[in-house]
Amino acid sequence: MIAILDFGSQYSELIARRIRETQVYSEVLSYRTTAEQLRQLSPKGIILSGGPSSVYDAAAPHCDPEIWKLGIPVLGVCYGMQLMVQQLGGEVTRSDRGEYGKASLCIDDPTDLLTNVEDGITMWMSHGDSVVRLPDGFGLLAHTTNTACAAIAHPQLKLYGVQFHPEVVHSLGGLALIRNFVYHICDCEPTWTTAAFVEEAIREIRGKVGNKRVLLALSGGVDSSTLAFLLHQAIGDQLTCMFIDQGFMRKLEPERLVKLFHEQFHIPVQYVDARERFLTSITGITDPEAKRKCIGHEFIRVFESESRRLGPFDYLAQGTLYPDVIESADTNVDPQTGERVAVKIKSHHNVGGLPKDLRFKLIEPLRKLFKDEVRRVGRSIGLPEEIVQRHPFPGPGLAIRILGEVTAERLEILRDADYIVRQEINRQGIYHDFWQAFAVLLPVRSVGVMGDQRTYAYPIVLRLVSSEDGMTADWSRVPYELLETISNRIVNEVQGVNRVVYDITSKPPGTIEWE
Ligand code: XMP
Repeated sequence: MIAILDFGSQYSELIARRIRETQVYSEVLSYRTTAEQLRQLSPKGIILSGGPSSVYDAAAPHCDPEIWKLGIPVLGVCYGMQLMVQQLGGEVTRSDRGEYGKASLCIDDPTDLLTNVEDGITMWMSHGDSVVRLPDGFGLLAHTTNTACAAIAHPQLKLYGVQFHPEVVHSLGGLALIRNFVYHICDCEPTWTTAAFVEEAIREIRGKVGNKRVLLALSGGVDSSTLAFLLHQAIGDQLTCMFIDQGFMRKLEPERLVKLFHEQFHIPVQYVDARERFLTSITGITDPEAKRKCIGHEFIRVFESESRRLGPFDYLAQGTLYPDVIESADTNVDPQTGERVAVKIKSHHNVGGLPKDLRFKLIEPLRKLFKDEVRRVGRSIGLPEEIVQRHPFPGPGLAIRILGEVTAERLEILRDADYIVRQEINRQGIYHDFWQAFAVLLPVRSVGVMGDQRTYAYPIVLRLVSSEDGMTADWSRVPYELLETISNRIVNEVQGVNRVVYDITSKPPGTIEWE
């Protein structure tokens, strides 16, 4: 394992992902982790991340200086390197010429950390402070035009530092450097594989659950579906999958999901038809946040009564992923028992409000994984590509794609329009070109003409976006012919719609969803 001490860099998670790409397990820990805690964890290497501070800031985060004496290889990245230099007696100053963006790396020592890293290769820099004097025993490995100490090493102590960010894609030699660090300097084996994960996860689930019962709220997305597969392989009938249909799913999806699980995967799903109930509770609500809250509350109530009816259960399985764990740190831990407690069911359904006697113990087998790793696991245990590669779908579903009041009639309109969008992009074989592709229904009406009739009906907005992670997104430049086909079909086939518009707003400033 490689431990990453996080000094507040926006890239700490990315470092962990890069390390895992070399099939070595890595975890992001707080920079406050002590040398003693690290000794107990016994990672094979430690990486100090970058961070927004200057080592001279009064409140700059420092690591435990005993870390240098652990005998574990350390790689400091950007701020991490400056901290290493400062704590070990070298000097860092605020330089008048910082370096931001791409820089060409001039290699002074092509061995060790920089083996197989090409001289002159591009690395990505982002720093104001610079190292101006190395601590005793350190040597220079590389420099750039503006940065005298771009890579440094104390090979005997196995302490290394780089001023650039090897983890970002713009650093073309970054992965080679990371490989040198994990394989040659830290002596890690490439054992973090999907097969190893599945085997270990199944063993752990069996060990933890014993002969107890586990409840899983299935949504049909890749996380909960992978979880269902994994748990079913581990504990078979002790798992109960519950699918709560709130009536805001896409056309034919609930039927399809239950059928797939029953007939193809032989995993029974308890279908809970709560459509009426959700629709009644949301009637009259137009404010986006109020809608989300209403759906969240209703979900808890249905979840509560249904889990009582089907239970009792000892465990609640949650599809928590590693980014959630990093973000929520220790906030979800019960201070009395030290166990993680159910604060939310993955995605949006907050079950923190469940009564005490329904406070399940949690089982979160995916909590070490990034999304791409979940997809690989899902695929490796037989989840079909159709689910593995499925576009994200928000927990409150179509209800937040109907602006204004949600009614049965509007749900029907949106469902039909949305179905056409999906059909057409599937027909063109371009489903995977998008992060998401869907329709939104607006609560206004406009005048149109069809045949000899004047119409006064709703517009549909098409929202087709590309994105890496949903945090930012760009509207997709699709062929006019595709827009034309979708528009024609929607206006002709969907009663109540007489106009289709295309949303050409990126995120930011827009969001992907409209509510
Ligand atoms: P926005 O609209 O904020 O969405 O740009 C970013 C991504 O998150 C999805 N999303 C949700 N997913 N529950 C979810 O599981 C939600 O309540 C929710 N709201 C937005 C959205 O579809 C997009 O992929």
